Amino acid sequence: MSNAGDFAPNTKTHEMAMEDKITSVSKEKRVIKPAAEFQKQANIGSMTAYRKMYRESINSPSKFWAKQAKDFLVWRKPWNKVVEWKAPHAKWFTGGMINVAENCLDRHLGTARENKAAIIFEGEPGDVRTITYKQLHGEVCRFANVLTRLGVKKGDRVAIYLPMVPEAAVAMLATARIGAIHTVIFGGFSSSAITERVNDCEAKLVITADGGYRRGGVVELKKNVDEALKKTPSVEKVVVVRRCGNSVQMKKGRDVWYHEELEEASPVHKAKGFSSENPLFILYTSGSTGKPKGVLHTSAGYLLGTALTSYYVFDLKEYDTYWCSADVGWITGHSYVVYGPLCSGATTVMYEGAPNYPDIDRFWSIIERHRISIFYTAPTAIRAFMRGGDEPVKKHDMSSLRLLGTVGEPINPEAWMWYYKTIGGGRCPVVDTWWQTETGAIMITPLPGVTPMKPGSATLPFFGVEPEVVDDSGRKVPKNSGGKLVIKRPWPSMLRTLWGDDKRFKEQYWSQFPGIYFCGDGCRQDKDGYYWIVGRIDDVLNVSGHRLGTAELESALVSHADVAEAAIVSKPDEIKGSGVVAFVTLKAGRNGSDNLKKTLREHVGKEIGPIARPDEIRFTEGLPKTRSGKIMRRILKEVASGGDRYGDVTTLEDFNVVARLAKTGEDE
Ligand code: PRX
Repeated sequence: MSNAGDFAPNTKTHEMAMEDKITSVSKEKRVIKPAAEFQKQANIGSMTAYRKMYRESINSPSKFWAKQAKDFLVWRKPWNKVVEWKAPHAKWFTGGMINVAENCLDRHLGTARENKAAIIFEGEPGDVRTITYKQLHGEVCRFANVLTRLGVKKGDRVAIYLPMVPEAAVAMLATARIGAIHTVIFGGFSSSAITERVNDCEAKLVITADGGYRRGGVVELKKNVDEALKKTPSVEKVVVVRRCGNSVQMKKGRDVWYHEELEEASPVHKAKGFSSENPLFILYTSGSTGKPKGVLHTSAGYLLGTALTSYYVFDLKEYDTYWCSADVGWITGHSYVVYGPLCSGATTVMYEGAPNYPDIDRFWSIIERHRISIFYTAPTAIRAFMRGGDEPVKKHDMSSLRLLGTVGEPINPEAWMWYYKTIGGGRCPVVDTWWQTETGAIMITPLPGVTPMKPGSATLPFFGVEPEVVDDSGRKVPKNSGGKLVIKRPWPSMLRTLWGDDKRFKEQYWSQFPGIYFCGDGCRQDKDGYYWIVGRIDDVLNVSGHRLGTAELESALVSHADVAEAAIVSKPDEIKGSGVVAFVTLKAGRNGSDNLKKTLREHVGKEIGPIARPDEIRFTEGLPKTRSGKIMRRILKEVASGGDRYGDVTTLEDFNVVARLAKTGEDE
């Protein structure tokens, strides 16, 4: 499936890299026009309409956001001021009072949505539960009463360590309903990760489950919590959801069962209004180094950002069955499994287990059986499925799909094309959405049916978002040259600070360019104004004086028919300063050979030019990834230079991968 032929002829040579610039070498030129049928029914109907609304959002932000806040949210008390901006601190909709859970639940009662499925849940063993808005409202009200009875008050922190089960959404919404702050800890994390996060935010209560199903086994969550809570003085109570029925120890006076508490609780709970800036949640995001950062999001602005993007980016309609495959432990799960879709009255699907259990076609089987119409997942998953070939997809009827989305990493054009053609049957627009835990909601994205798509580009900014690509001194770089991606003005769903560490918040995001948000990504804007993320700035390679982003090089490798996934890192080189090492996983049934290494080097040379040709290629069974699927290039760098000081590996998905990787160079 080499697409060399689809690339435009070599028209441009590499630009000279200035000290602080990134040389962009991608020659991807395909433009895919959305289907007319989609456009006809799209929530925003044309590029002209998008541009008009975008201009309004930039030229009259207060007017624009005031209108959206009125249209998309229900308020207890209107705000006085849309935004108060004292860089780097923003307050949105000050003076306003709102209840986030009421916006996701109560507002739908007494409407046609009341008996609509709010959540369709599928467990890994195959158990399915459908929960209507009315039922979800009842359960959240009961649980809000339970939390209050257990002593949780406005502003208290509640840690949630659950599998992907509906109770996770209930726990989040009930915490929000009483004005407390949740911190969801991904169910794949170990007890030490729980201890660290619980202690950092001094959580008063923990909500967990006996276990969760994963790859046919039971992950013993309660056991991890017990271990973690040996060193967490702030925790007073633990609520345990019964999911797997595995035996657990209940500590007297501390631990209670969710179902027993719920049985006794009243289903009546009157939601109170809280101030717009009341903290909603803390979500810890681990950078490649250092202790996790507790990203703080507040209520009204965050909810507005997720609701508005859900409506426009996912083109939500009353009849959609929408599935975002992210875990609630990540921001994508917060914004696009729970808050955005429920605030919009959508049907959101939750799946508990592994994507390839019991077989590689599990996702496609879920899409077929639940007649999913909108599907949102990560490039890492797409590449894994692509590796398995088309057959597992072809076994299923995927005709219910009408829109596809991706998030988490740059998607290489080959994976994009596969997603578009094989999963979407060439009829579904693909929204490649760029955003971060810190941004709360989607920032750069196509609008489906409207924006002409370029595989590998997140395309254009969403309403109210003003991105720019700049050099180290903050000057805008010319079109088509690389630089740092910044956001030049505040937006409603932005992070407000890092929990307990405002100094780090300022340093991390606002110190490079005062008053301007630096997201940490390298980027290029093309002549049509489209944004192309070229990877994290920390991962940029310096080869013979050229600074190259990882994404373009990796995508050149993946455009070869035999390659499933690739990761590029630099290693010290006596002559060039540094050399390029490529770690490559092959598609099922392909064999790594010296010949193939040669072919791949030539392929990259042809696709993007000789400077980027890897000095070394190593075939590997797997790449080290974080649990959210991001490649940990820091570890690969260490492996490439023959070292074994891997640093903090607590977020690594599978350490065995690293052990196997270390062997990849042995035949060299
Ligand atoms: O590098 C960008 C990459 O993921 C980073 C944010 O990661 P996280 O906070 O874990 O949130 C992931 C889910 C929103 C970004 O700085 N990233 C995310 N989406 C894209 C992306 N890179 C390129 N294209 C995307 N669509």
